[in-house]
Amino acid sequence: MSVRKITEYPEKVLAQVGKPVEKFDEELEKLCEDMFETMYDAEGVGLAAPQIGLNLRLFVMDCDGIKLIAANPEIITKSGEQSGQEGCLSVGKVPAVVSRAEKATLRAQDAKGEWFEREAEGYAARCFQHETDHCDGKLFIDHLPKMRKDMVVKRFQKEKRWK
Ligand code: NI
Repeated sequence: MSVRKITEYPEKVLAQVGKPVEKFDEELEKLCEDMFETMYDAEGVGLAAPQIGLNLRLFVMDCDGIKLIAANPEIITKSGEQSGQEGCLSVGKVPAVVSRAEKATLRAQDAKGEWFEREAEGYAARCFQHETDHCDGKLFIDHLPKMRKDMVVKRFQKEKRWK
């Protein structure tokens, strides 16, 4: 296992629609192990393949008691609304308030290629939506009004210079 380098905004791969995962083999399992390791190392609760530079529809998460691997994820139902702070490892965890569905059902394939559905609410549902967005080339800041998006990006760039 190894910790991979996290790609950061505005790297192109983060804005690309991911390619479907087609091979469910040992290589994919190893990739998921690396993704978990990278996520834990960065103290995140979710990590999508574009965040380690791969244009793939794949994410891992361990959030609010839900730990899973999701290949070719889709949000198939959404209901309610929640508003809360969100951040992203690719944007230096700079937080911003984002409105999301309160409940969401995720449909995806596990590392063996088996389809599953999983329902969640609150923080875990937010994570489903955030990570599935990554697979569609969308970041949480894309949900913000332009002025607030610019503020998050500015703060991220400023903090990066001090590292
Ligand atoms: Ni993210």
